[in-house]
Amino acid sequence: MKITVLAGDGIGPEIIDAALEVMQATEKKFGLSIEYDRKLMGGCAYDKYGVSLPEDTLKSAKTAAGVLLGAVGGPKWDKVEPSKRPEKALLNIRKALGLYCNLRPMTVSKYAVHLSPLKEERAVGADLLIVRELTGGIYFGEHKEAAMVNGVETASDIELYTRPEIERIARKAFEAAKLRRGKVTSVDKANVLGSSRMWRRIVTEMQEKDYPGIALNHMYVDNCAMQLVQNPKQFDVILTNNIFGDILSDEASTIAGAIGLMPSASLGDGTGMYEPIHGSAPDIAGLGIANPLGTILSAAMLLRYSLKQEAAAQAIEKAVDAVMDAGYRTPDLVGPGLTKVSTSEMGHLVAQAVVKG
Ligand code: IPM
Ligand code: MG
Repeated sequence: MKITVLAGDGIGPEIIDAALEVMQATEKKFGLSIEYDRKLMGGCAYDKYGVSLPEDTLKSAKTAAGVLLGAVGGPKWDKVEPSKRPEKALLNIRKALGLYCNLRPMTVSKYAVHLSPLKEERAVGADLLIVRELTGGIYFGEHKEAAMVNGVETASDIELYTRPEIERIARKAFEAAKLRRGKVTSVDKANVLGSSRMWRRIVTEMQEKDYPGIALNHMYVDNCAMQLVQNPKQFDVILTNNIFGDILSDEASTIAGAIGLMPSASLGDGTGMYEPIHGSAPDIAGLGIANPLGTILSAAMLLRYSLKQEAAAQAIEKAVDAVMDAGYRTPDLVGPGLTKVSTSEMGHLVAQAVVKG
């Protein structure tokens, strides 16, 4: 089977190399045979081909069992026209692969709780999953760039959702909640937005009809932003639209104290794409200090969801825990009594721990 590998920009190549070392060790251990097809996407593709998502990259991804992504973008491409920006490549590949469901788990790890901006008693035990709609809403509605309209400079972006788009993402959230603690909080802005009122009505109907065993509550997004800081433990599954999920998932990841540890999966009805939550961190690119664990854990999610190799996925997760328990840390998480390692050393350590089992 084939996996398309998109290292991308900034720290992307370093974290991807570390994750591939772990994948290869896992592959051997579990007798899998994976072909890695490295392609360009993002600013690196723009620099080489003048487009951020080359046809050839998309073709590879469409025929892959899964896609592993580092990160894209950086200030270098800030002035590139909007349709060619690295971020646009990410939006376009999600759309082209039909990846409408973004899963962003946030668990306060015992290794990072001291780095959480929250008081320890508020943070410890928080364990939530953000289910973000990924191919609709304002990121995909009609964009009108700034232009003069009746003598006034004007720009607009449309938030648009259809019933099927809401139903399919809500279903993913309800199904995820069944495997967790059975609670869904649907987040919207129904006091202001028509699209949110429809969202709330459809989600409520679905719970009543198909998921009576799931506890559903609704929350306005501004309140949710506050509640996440005040009492993150109240949340199990957070179901929300594209823009609110983008914002809330950054907020949630910081509560965990270590954005570098957070993986994500973008799923549809076919292939899936897996990437760490953090960005391309151009300021530390090439220094060998980036934390590759978010990418390594994303590779575990790839094995779980796209390759259906649960045991292999767990082996990676266990290996990460073992290496952390042994006290190894990249600079973002290091502290007294711990051993500082580089990005690639962290990759070797986790790969070795997989082999040892
Ligand atoms: C993310 C990122 C992207 C998004 C950007 C880079 C387009 O912020 O994955 O959260 O908004 O979806
Ligand atoms: Mg984001």
